[in-house]
Order: sequence, then structure tokens, then C-alpha cells
Amino acid sequence: MTKRVAILISGGGSNMVTLVDSMTGDHPARPVLVLSNIEGAGGLARATERGIPTATVPHKDYGGDRAAFEAELNRVLEEVAPDIICLAGFMRVLTEEFTRKWQGRMLNIHPSLLPKYRGLHTHRRALEAGDREHGCTVHEVTAELDGGPILGQATVPVYDGDTEETLAKRVLGMEHQLYPEVLRRYAAADRTPVVLSISS
Ligand code: GRF
Repeated sequence: MTKRVAILISGGGSNMVTLVDSMTGDHPARPVLVLSNIEGAGGLARATERGIPTATVPHKDYGGDRAAFEAELNRVLEEVAPDIICLAGFMRVLTEEFTRKWQGRMLNIHPSLLPKYRGLHTHRRALEAGDREHGCTVHEVTAELDGGPILGQATVPVYDGDTEETLAKRVLGMEHQLYPEVLRRYAAADRTPVVLSISS
């Protein structure tokens, strides 16, 4: 049975694009919705170009009331009945209640080699620590921020002279390889970890 995938974004949606473009042919999943918490997010137009239905639930309309915001998220999501939710550049912290409702069906990609550097500014933190390698992680979402079971990681080298921008670009390029491969396995109930790296 083809799995129905909803993708949540906040910005340009480059990860959403690679996920959508990967779900073709014998892939066990298909995209059914791209949902943004930001009106006019660039990814919405890219989803529409690909014929994917979109929706916007602006968190700013709920004045900090996370429960009300997430109740609307759930209403919109339940209309498409996703089997899997992919957070892809989605920049809102979700409550324990929301994550519990979707636990076991929700993935996120985080730009660090978890458990290192949970939270924000991961590239800056890796550079400040003098790390010689960095990367990204896809994990199941649980109530623990950036803490769920890891389903895949991709490693990149850190070069002398790297800036936040050059490192972020290198990591993003690997995100675009990692997330589609993890989703393909996850949709086929295969939890074999995906391990990728680029040579130094
Ligand atoms: C990027 O910083 C990426 O590392 C993280 O979310 C941000 C935006 O990604 N996963 P996208 O281009 O909107 O997918």
C-alpha cells in the first residue's frame, strides 16, 4: 500500500523538493501535502509547480498559543490522512502532545551529527569547536527536541577556512541525499540506518 506523505516546511523547501522528486516509480510513498507555518514560503510555490496540494497555517496568527496552532495543524493534516510526516526545514518546536500523536510516523532532518549540537546554529558551533567533521541526521521525532531514534546520518569534512555558509552548503547537499534514502526505507518499514559520507 502506497504510503501518504505530508511535508512540513518554513522556508525555501529544498529538502521538500528532493523528497517530492524522489517519490516516483516503484517508491513506496507519494506526497499528499506540503504545509507551511509561514505564508508565502518559497517552498509552497515549488510544491505547486510539482502539482502537490499545499496549505498554510501561520503560527503568528495564534499569538503564541501553541495548542491552538497545533490543533489547526492537526485539522489540516487529518484531512489528508498522512501515513508519514516529514519535517523539512520546519522551524517550530512542537509540543509533547503533538509529537506523541504522530510518534512513529514523523521524521525530521537536523543539520548536525546528533546527538552533537541539538538546537540551532549547528554549523557555527561545529566550527567553534574545531570539529574536523560535521553532517546531518534524520531521526524519528519524539517529545525530546532533536532526540528521537536515528535513522540515518551523512558526514562531511570540515576544511580550514570554512565559514558557516560554506559548511552549511556542504551539509545541505548531503541532506538532499540522506533524507530521500531514509524516507524510501522508512516507507518500506525498513529501519536499516542510512550512513553516507563524502570524501575529504
Ligand atoms: C536548512 O538549514 C537545513 O539544514 C535544515 O533546514 C534549513 C532549510 O532547509 N534542515 P530547506 O531548504 O527549507 O529544506
